Amino acid sequence: MGKDVIIACDFPSAVECFAFLDRFHEEKPYVKIGMELFYAAGPEIVRAIKERGHKIFLDLKLHDIPNTVKSAMRVLRDLQVDLCNLHAAGTRAMMEAALEGLTRPDGTRPLLIAVTQLTSTDAQSMRDEILIDRPLDEVVMRYAHNAKQAGLDGVVCSPLEAGKVHQVCGTEFLTVTPGVRFADSDAADQKRVTTPARAREIGSDYIVVGRPVTRAADPVAAYRACAQDFIG
Ligand code: C5P
Repeated sequence: MGKDVIIACDFPSAVECFAFLDRFHEEKPYVKIGMELFYAAGPEIVRAIKERGHKIFLDLKLHDIPNTVKSAMRVLRDLQVDLCNLHAAGTRAMMEAALEGLTRPDGTRPLLIAVTQLTSTDAQSMRDEILIDRPLDEVVMRYAHNAKQAGLDGVVCSPLEAGKVHQVCGTEFLTVTPGVRFADSDAADQKRVTTPARAREIGSDYIVVGRPVTRAADPVAAYRACAQDFIG
C-alpha cells in the first residue's frame, strides 16, 4: 500500500479551489473534496478535478437509513471518485448497503472507508453529550472492526489510533488520518492530532492535511514538507 498525503480542499467555491491547485506545477496531489466545496460547486467539481489528473477522496460522510445510503452511493460510484466514506455509527447494515450501492455491474468500485470518531471529538464530549461511556480508543476499535466485518476497505481515524487499528483489523485495512499538524502550527478545532512524521511512525496509510497546507504562505512548500516527513 503506497502512502500518500491527501490535501483537504476546504474552499467555498470552485474558483478558489482551482486557484489553489494551479499553484502546483510539478505534482498532482491527491485531493479531498468535502461538504463545503461539494455543496457549493456540485458534482461537476469532481469531474473537473478528476480531468486535471488528481485522485479524489470525496468526503461526504454519509449517515442515513441503509436504503438511502445505498442509492446515494450508486450516484457517487458513477462520479468515478477514488475513495469515499460514511459514518460507522450508521451500523453494519448501513455499511453493507453502501457497498452494494457503490459496486458497479462489472464488480469494480471506489474504495469505501468509515469514519470512526471525528478527530474533533474527545472523550469528555463523547461521555457528556452523546452518552458513550466506553473509552474512546475502545469505541474506535469496535467501529473499525464493524467496518471490516461489513467488507469496507478501511477507516478514517486519528493518526494516534492508526497502529492499533492495524493490529485489530490487519495491515491491509486502510487508515486515513486527518488531525495532522506541523509541530509549530495551530491545532484549531482538531483535538487528537500529531505531526506527519509521527503519523508515519505509527503507521497511517494516508494523511489528510487541510489548513496547514491550504492556509500556508507557500502551500506548495508546505505540501512538500508534509510529503517529505510522511513518505520520505
Ligand atoms: O484543516 P484540517 O487539516 O483540520 O482538515 C482536516 C480535514 O479532514 C477536514 O476537511 C475535515 O472535514 C476532515 N476530517 C476530519 N476528521 C474526520 C474526518 C474528516 O478532520 N474524522
